[in-house]
Amino acid sequence: MRPAHDMVGALDLLYRVFYRGVLARMPEHTAIAIGQWGLRHLPLDRLGIFRNPDPRLAITLGGVRLANPLILSSMYYDTAILRRAMGLGWGAVTAKSITPGPRPGHPEPNLVRIRTAEGPGLVNCNGFQNPGLEAYRSALAALPHRVPLIVAAAGETALDYVRVVAGLQEFGDLVEINISSPNTKLVYGWSTRPGELKDLFRAVRAATGKPIIVKISPDFRETNEEITIPAALDAGIAIVNYGNTRRVDEPRLSQRTGGLSGPALFATTLENVRRVHERFGERLEIIATGGIDSPEKARQVLEAGARACGIFTGFITRGPLLPRRILDALQAEKK
Ligand SMILES: Cc1cc2nc3c(=O)[nH]c(=O)nc-3n(C[C@H](O)[C@H](O)[C@H](O)COP(=O)(O)O)c2cc1C
Repeated sequence: MRPAHDMVGALDLLYRVFYRGVLARMPEHTAIAIGQWGLRHLPLDRLGIFRNPDPRLAITLGGVRLANPLILSSMYYDTAILRRAMGLGWGAVTAKSITPGPRPGHPEPNLVRIRTAEGPGLVNCNGFQNPGLEAYRSALAALPHRVPLIVAAAGETALDYVRVVAGLQEFGDLVEINISSPNTKLVYGWSTRPGELKDLFRAVRAATGKPIIVKISPDFRETNEEITIPAALDAGIAIVNYGNTRRVDEPRLSQRTGGLSGPALFATTLENVRRVHERFGERLEIIATGGIDSPEKARQVLEAGARACGIFTGFITRGPLLPRRILDALQAEKK
């Protein structure tokens, strides 16, 4: 155990030095291109060091068994990356939110790094760059599931979600509906028209037998808890992902506004999980997402009532050994 532990620590340190010294100093689009090239082409998924196979870490989410409670949050649609990610220690991997038709996304700059008091984060206005439903169905058909895959849908109308959910559901173990990304007119508007959510949830529920996750925004606390979550439960949807990025102004981005991710979100994520768990109890399974970038933060949200942790920014800023470090810490608590 000790040599493996030391190796995790050494490689983790190496990545942090590389991130701070090299990636964080490059223009964002170069750093992204290098990072994604590495994820796509380096056979990291073949190395056991990224995984902790202790069966005591397993959970169920919507009745689906996950080998551990860590979920790679929605961001990548490239199935070559998702395939590698499935070997990097996650209990499940989420694909990017897909829209009925292809979308080019917003022009660059659409992602910038930000240094907050809590640590390194990102602000993006990606704008749902994705190949659209039909092309993505073909891509997913060739993706083996080494761990459960969560497919994700985004749209403007209930019909958009129904089409995407009906089209993708056969390729996913769970289905996430994104009603919360802040950087387009799509999606974010749902929380400002909460009266329509009931019909949306019913329509989506009828479109698939797979467990459904509703991904909500940290920007609409009252609506989430008074309207969105009760409407989801009424429709037979019992998993909530709380949540997405927080809308902020960011003059460096092409849209001048975007979604903040990373550790600045964490305090709110923890409060949201605690409150929602106290209010809805075991009827609702909660995925805590937003700012989890250390074993201690993962431990705190799980203790507050989350069933699973969603992570994206921490995977970039803290590196691909973050899941392993969290899992080792969770395992140590079980002894
Ligand atoms: C570049 C980028 C693209 C993202 N794309 C999506 C998306 O397509 N669908 C979605 O539900 N969330 C998307 N997210 C949000 C993340 O899944 C996650 O909810 C958010 O970043 C907060 O978690 P974190 O602080 O661990 O990154 C995106 C985030 C980033 C940084």
